Amino acid sequence: MSVLNLLSLTTSGYMEMNGKQAQYAKFFYADSSKKPKNEENRKLLSRNGMLVFYTPSFIVCLVALIILPHQDLRFSIVEYVLTVHFLKRILEVLFVHKFSGFMMANASIMIGVSYCISTATMIYSQYLSQGTPEPSVDLKYVGFAVFLIGISGNFYHHCILASLRKTGDREYKIPKGGLFGLIICPHYFFEIMEFIGVSCISQTKFTLCFTLGTMLLLMGRSHSTREWYVSKFGKNFRSDIKALIPYLF
Ligand SMILES: NC(=O)c1ccc[n+]([C@@H]2O[C@H](COP(=O)([O-])OP(=O)(O)OC[C@H]3O[C@@H](n4cnc5c(N)ncnc54)[C@H](OP(=O)(O)O)[C@@H]3O)[C@@H](O)[C@H]2O)c1
Repeated sequence: MSVLNLLSLTTSGYMEMNGKQAQYAKFFYADSSKKPKNEENRKLLSRNGMLVFYTPSFIVCLVALIILPHQDLRFSIVEYVLTVHFLKRILEVLFVHKFSGFMMANASIMIGVSYCISTATMIYSQYLSQGTPEPSVDLKYVGFAVFLIGISGNFYHHCILASLRKTGDREYKIPKGGLFGLIICPHYFFEIMEFIGVSCISQTKFTLCFTLGTMLLLMGRSHSTREWYVSKFGKNFRSDIKALIPYLF
């Protein structure tokens, strides 16, 4: 599962970087000639599609909390941080983000199922790892601190994005504030930090592979996002703003 997850996320990152982006938000059939037939019948509002992304994983976390109580501390922290991560995403979709578009129902189901499988596998691998010798360096508290920085930074930049639109507005603007002056996807940067935190808490190979895969996927999507801003805003978009890693990428 570790290898499969890493391979599938790496492939998705490669596709994102090479013009085959997951079809939602800015990338929802930007080339209208490629729109599928009956698109109207099969598309969802972005808000609903995003709920399909995150709700199954949140339910998996809740079920695991109920059916696997009283596990070791490392397991419990992994469980709670994943639950908080998905709960936060659902609340943001409902109350923070101001969406402008659509996504295809099948794309949202595929992404929702893949998040759900990864979450269940992460929790199960953590469950199986209990009772094995503890790692020589314990990173769970450092990991928890990194997770908190990641989730706060991710939320802060989501709020900046939401502040770019009034309710009902559908325009895209160049975001300013926070790390937007250095990179165009600071929310992805902090999401990666969140998962680095989860890897340090978990200290399992599965979570490490998932985090590496997420990093590669978000490198691909941030690269396409930067290209999208350059093509939409031209010279108004500062060329020194990188995609994901300040000054480097
Ligand atoms: N773990 C993973 O595999 C993975 C993969 C992808 C994303 N994510 C995470 O999911 C979260 C959301 O990602 P996303 O790709 O949906 O982010 P996004 O495309 O940047 O959109 C986030 C929100 O901001 C709005 N927005 C974006 N750019 C805007 C602009 N220039 N002007 C006005 N509004 C703007 C979007 O509206 P529209 O919907 O109208 O574009 C949407 O409501 C992030 O925290 C990301 O890290 C995780």
